[in-house]
Amino acid sequence: MRERSLPADEVIASLARTKEHDYSYDRFFSTMCSRPHPIAVRAHDMFLETNLGDPGLFPGTAGLEEETVRMLGELLGCPQAQGYISTGGTESNIQAVRAAKNRSGKREGNIIVPASAHFSFDKIGDLLSLEVRKAELDSHLRVDISSVEALIDEQTAALVGIAGTTEFGQVDPIEELADIASEWGIHLHVDAAFGGFVLPFLDNGLKWDFSLPAVSSITIDPHKMGLATIPAGGLLFRNQDCMNALETETHYLTRAKQTSLTGTRSGASAAAAYAVMMHLGREGFREMVGYCMELTRHLVRGAREIGVEPLIEPVMNVVALQVPQPPKVRERLMDRDWHVSMTREPKRALRLILMTHMSHENIDLFLADLKEILADIN
Ligand SMILES: Cc1ncc(COP(=O)(O)O)c(C=O)c1O
Repeated sequence: MRERSLPADEVIASLARTKEHDYSYDRFFSTMCSRPHPIAVRAHDMFLETNLGDPGLFPGTAGLEEETVRMLGELLGCPQAQGYISTGGTESNIQAVRAAKNRSGKREGNIIVPASAHFSFDKIGDLLSLEVRKAELDSHLRVDISSVEALIDEQTAALVGIAGTTEFGQVDPIEELADIASEWGIHLHVDAAFGGFVLPFLDNGLKWDFSLPAVSSITIDPHKMGLATIPAGGLLFRNQDCMNALETETHYLTRAKQTSLTGTRSGASAAAAYAVMMHLGREGFREMVGYCMELTRHLVRGAREIGVEPLIEPVMNVVALQVPQPPKVRERLMDRDWHVSMTREPKRALRLILMTHMSHENIDLFLADLKEILADIN
């Protein structure tokens, strides 16, 4: 650290110069986050100093978090759901599995996740000393139920289904997973980190939330399609027992027990999530999701015109495009300042997320570049 003070203006000017090195969201196809809604930024700013790690000092903010959880629960078919605003999908997944493990009493059990699960589940296996068994996918890239059945045993502490997979935007057959979970009396966790703010606003008839009695917990991230500021994740449990399974005594804080993973945690995230949900309402979210789906259809239409097919017909605003030599194509796109990512083996494809920051014009520019690159490498 410097010895002498630097005037605030100079510090801020240096920060602004540094930020110029970052890339622009306008050309991001690879991220599941977006520019936050302006009201989220204002709310975040208002609650910057709050600490929900010690909620007795900030009862107003704590009440706001409770109300945010209630609204999320209502959206997911269970207004009385319990939970909290976490730092994101990873923390919510960790905590859901931790609760399931604690309740099951299995010290060294296993969990069954689809092969398409987010890598947070690998961290969970390591952190919680659980074997992570990966079930195969079917031809639609949903988890194969017979593979789940073959992996399950007396030591299984939780089943996981994904509602909006990171790479394909696919939804697992959660109803069938729910049947298995009730038959075995096992915790079923649904990772809807991305899909949680998409699926309720699509009329596709899929059942995947708390309306299925066997679903015990859900991850839903306001900092993805909820347009909140980072970090804002959501963890919801159907009942209080799961929350109780996460309790730690706190000794010196205003509340005797804590259920979050982190200690000190900002109330700004909860305020931002709350503000967006109140401001947009269901109609605003329907419109926003509708726009992202329109972008998705525009991309797929244009891709087909240049001879590129998606791996599956998109279920939500995630597209996996089948191109020859995906790593090379991606590298060439990155050279042209398009930020795309790839799905993993054995289904290597270009992975594109159509978030609110994307535009029809930029999709057209992207497709023109993709066409040139493909012509060049063929
Ligand atoms: C389905 C799913 N679960 C969990 C996560 C992890 O979320 P985070 O990066 O907020 O920890 C992601 C991230 O993209 C995801 O797509």
